[in-house]
Amino acid sequence: MDLFFMPLILLTIYLIYALLASFLFPDRRRPRMKLPLPPGTLGWPYVGETFQLYSQDPNIFFASKAKRYGPIFKTHILGCPCVMISSPEAAKFVLVTKSHLFKPTFPASKERMLGKQAIFFNQGPYHSKLRKLVLRAFMPDSIRSNVSDVESLAVDSLKSMEGRSIDNTFLELKTYSFNVALLSIFGKDEIKYREDLKRCYYVLEKGYNSMPINLPGTLFRKSMKARRELGQILAKILATRRQMKPEHDQHHDLLSSFMDDKEGLSDDQIADNIIGVIFAARDTTASVLTWIIKYLAENPTVLQAVTEEQEAVIKSKDESGKQRMLTWEDTKNMPLTSRVIQETLRLASILSFTFREAVEDVEYGGYLIPKGWKVLPLFRNIHHSPDIFPEPEKFDPFRFEVAPKPNTFLAFGSGAHSCPGNELAKLEMLVLLHHLTTKYRWSLTGPREGIQYGPFALPQNGLPIRMFRR
Ligand code: HEM
Repeated sequence: MDLFFMPLILLTIYLIYALLASFLFPDRRRPRMKLPLPPGTLGWPYVGETFQLYSQDPNIFFASKAKRYGPIFKTHILGCPCVMISSPEAAKFVLVTKSHLFKPTFPASKERMLGKQAIFFNQGPYHSKLRKLVLRAFMPDSIRSNVSDVESLAVDSLKSMEGRSIDNTFLELKTYSFNVALLSIFGKDEIKYREDLKRCYYVLEKGYNSMPINLPGTLFRKSMKARRELGQILAKILATRRQMKPEHDQHHDLLSSFMDDKEGLSDDQIADNIIGVIFAARDTTASVLTWIIKYLAENPTVLQAVTEEQEAVIKSKDESGKQRMLTWEDTKNMPLTSRVIQETLRLASILSFTFREAVEDVEYGGYLIPKGWKVLPLFRNIHHSPDIFPEPEKFDPFRFEVAPKPNTFLAFGSGAHSCPGNELAKLEMLVLLHHLTTKYRWSLTGPREGIQYGPFALPQNGLPIRMFRR
């Protein structure tokens, strides 16, 4: 009897193991292409090398791996087998030339909070359509009419920081970048909705990095509630806009681009993408500005040169009898300040990497990237490579007097999903820096060293400073 059942029991155990293993260790699935996997180690089953990554600065983990294995290597993190890439050529392959083979991928909880129809999560014709609509609202011709409104927001924001000790510069600047994002989405109507949207969005964002546990009292639950409320507020805004007579609708903002009848987007699709744009625009721009304030304080010669450039803008307007309000043309006449922004984007690399997933088995450089594996282009490693940017740890805006080589400057990504808000982000930073350098001085009052991730790279404690009028 025992002998009769033994093979059956063994087979059942094997089948259960195989089933579990296929879920838990997807990297053990046999790839179809007969090519070697990239060099590197996968660590322990399931946990992989997650502890090695999170027990130190993640950039040290990536840099030491790249040094040991070269620009393409494998690892296993948070239950996912991954291929990390750190050469400009490989980044171009994944993000541009073969972007259709690598889909964007995010944690499921993030997708639920932002809304799965947001631009980041999609590929193909729906993504191309959204991209066209977003680019239409954020291209230079559309945002040039916003300069004076952005300027008012910058002036107000700096005034609110004046003459006091600021515990967390990043938090202050997040208010500025939030208001600019709303301005670009709703135009001048922004002010009507600001407080309601702020109340809900601020609760929503607290849950972005929470565990997706939907129980009373959890951050996730509170965030999802705020997400539903945001959806209701947006539905009301859409209804109000629809009631406007077409001849009175003078809007040229993101909302009107989305609401253009012939585009046929549903209210849910519009809501997901508005929340998505606020998410993409807010912490990113605020953290880059925080780094600029730090680097300028630490490099007085550069600060002096930027201040002189900005004073020259005011002087030339005064001499020609023009109003002092900035114009789009003024912001195009700030070469050194623009290089300070570019160098900060490189040095701080606030997005250390991005995520993709191979949609089929892909060959690159003689290696196999198996279907389902995550692929991470390591922006920070490229930006900190001494072969590409000599003395990479030095803050040197003058290095950008010569244009960087193709695919080596990836602060705004590249290819199909590259940042459509980059012109707005640059405008927003230039305008704030104009007023900051010509009217204020500041000193750093917290630790000089240390980076925290939230998830974007930030100076320690959000950069405490003291700011006073010149
Ligand atoms: C300095 C500030 C900013 C930085 C460093 C930045 C960086 C990036 C990067 C690297 C990507 C590509 C991510 C990937 O390929 O996975 C991206 C995408 C995106 N960014 Fe930005 N961004 C900034 C500001 C903004 C602003 C102000 C907006 C909107 C007003 C915006 C809207 C978006 C959107 C909608 C996407 C997704 C595009 C797509 O999936 O097709 N970003 N951003």
